Amino acid sequence: EGDKPAPKSTLTFAEVPHGQDENAHAPEGYETQVLIRWGDPVLPGAPAFDPLKQTAAAQAKQFGYNNDMIAWFPLPYGSTAADHGLLAINHEYTDPHVMFPGFADEKAAFKDTTEDQVEVELAAHGISVIEVKREGGKWQVVADSKYARRINLLDSPAVLSGPVAGHDKVKTSADATGTKVIGTINNCAGGWTPWGTYLSGEENFHQYFAGKTEAPIHNRYGIKGKPEYPAWGKHFARFNVEKEPNEPNRYGWVLEVDPYDADAVPKKRTALGHFKHENATTALTADGRLAVYSGDDERFEYVYRFITKGKVDLKDRKANADLLDEGTLYVARFGADGQVTWLPLVHGQGPLTAENGFNSQADVLLETRRAADLLKPTPMDRPEDVETNPVTGKVYIALTKNDRRTPDQVDAANQRFNNVYGHIIEMIPPTVDGKVDHGADSFAWDIFIRAGDPSNKASGAKFGAGTSKDGWFANPDNIAFDRQGRLWVLTDGFPDFDVADGLWACDTEGDARAQARHFFAVPQGAEMCGGAFNGDDTAIFLSVQHPGEDSMYDKPSTRWPDFKDGMPPRPAVVVVVKKDGGVIGS
Ligand code: FEO
Ligand code: CA
Ligand code: CA
Ligand code: CA
Repeated sequence: EGDKPAPKSTLTFAEVPHGQDENAHAPEGYETQVLIRWGDPVLPGAPAFDPLKQTAAAQAKQFGYNNDMIAWFPLPYGSTAADHGLLAINHEYTDPHVMFPGFADEKAAFKDTTEDQVEVELAAHGISVIEVKREGGKWQVVADSKYARRINLLDSPAVLSGPVAGHDKVKTSADATGTKVIGTINNCAGGWTPWGTYLSGEENFHQYFAGKTEAPIHNRYGIKGKPEYPAWGKHFARFNVEKEPNEPNRYGWVLEVDPYDADAVPKKRTALGHFKHENATTALTADGRLAVYSGDDERFEYVYRFITKGKVDLKDRKANADLLDEGTLYVARFGADGQVTWLPLVHGQGPLTAENGFNSQADVLLETRRAADLLKPTPMDRPEDVETNPVTGKVYIALTKNDRRTPDQVDAANQRFNNVYGHIIEMIPPTVDGKVDHGADSFAWDIFIRAGDPSNKASGAKFGAGTSKDGWFANPDNIAFDRQGRLWVLTDGFPDFDVADGLWACDTEGDARAQARHFFAVPQGAEMCGGAFNGDDTAIFLSVQHPGEDSMYDKPSTRWPDFKDGMPPRPAVVVVVKKDGGVIGS
């Protein structure tokens, strides 16, 4: 096109072509190492994985299913170690049709799983913490690590803390205190705090709960008697809202986990709100408090920000132990004037009063979505991950898609109806005394990328100049930054356009701003998530989630990563390194 040469990106890798097959693909000169797969040992005494002899007891010691978010924590704590650290990893959900043999079709698998199989699924949910080390260029999981941990949905203790703890609406027949929860559910993306704890977002908690209900607290979150896992409610009363109406209210929170202490009980930080938390990304305000950004991933839902009341103590990590229990939750309204306003969700202010059924801040938090509705924030095209650029302090929001937006519903921040491609928004917080202020009441914002094929004018796509035929993408989901402030985008849904999901990267500043380049492709049926760099950006940890999900156990579309007869495809964490040891993307 034209005579002007394409602006030169700081990213110099040779792009992976668009395509889709049974394998994973990284650029020339890079190596993909499989680090840990579903069923591999995490805790001491874990048996070897045998797909035909799955038990809940074994699964509770093994790596869980559908690994998603990955966060890197250096060892020792506070160091700049690049070759030795902990990975905290979410296990979002289970796919019984690919986990277990013998079902006629996918629907039957979700409906007819036995009680024993559901117990395996419960144990396969949650979080893993593993210790990893690089020796001689190879990354490995450290066996029998004192940090190794599995938090599951079968029997792991977790506590509710903050304003909602002890509320009548979180009490169940098993827990009269309203504080003691069993484990964590549908952990999607997350984040980490400056004091080295892991934040894990509980996303689609509604889909597990059977039973009819008309309660607004259920219906506003999609619990209406049509669960995607009907077998769960059949075998376990806690997953049937007719028997345990308050159980779902105990999920849909952000969980804080200390990866450096395998005995520390995870805490659900209710002050951060109750919704389908895609993630929880932290940044400092100009005066040293902590901001936590979170997307509520559903069509027409909102973007949130929480700000702690107290300040972060960077010298004494224990001093921050309950910092996330007190503060203010805000929801975003994107104006056509290029300003985003953060609207506080505070009991007693505006419409958040007893007249509207809110008698306390705990009531506001329990029904975060209904409270937010009253403040008229901007309904978004599925807000997924939110990340801050470590170099510029700008904040990016991935909006995955929204095929239900109609022409009369388009607005400045969601510009396309039937938005099947998704887009990425850039927010620019103001600077106070030379510090980017993530606590300001309003930020500037703009559209960074409108995804889709730029060669197809009708798509409305917008990428940076010089984006190649393999460089465009659709359905941005997770995002991550390297230390140079370059944006890495992981997709979920690109197979709708006959291209494998994967990883793309671009500069965010300079001539090649938003010029996306294709770095990694996942195998058939999988999506790409995670995206964590090690301490010096010479390795990136990626989640290959649900390979073969488009097929059945007995006839999988791929047997990645083992490619062994009788072995089903296995979700796994891979680590991609440059063969010459250089910085990823260089
Ligand atoms: Fe679990 Fe919104 O992706
Ligand atoms: Ca996600
Ligand atoms: Ca992220
Ligand atoms: Ca997703």
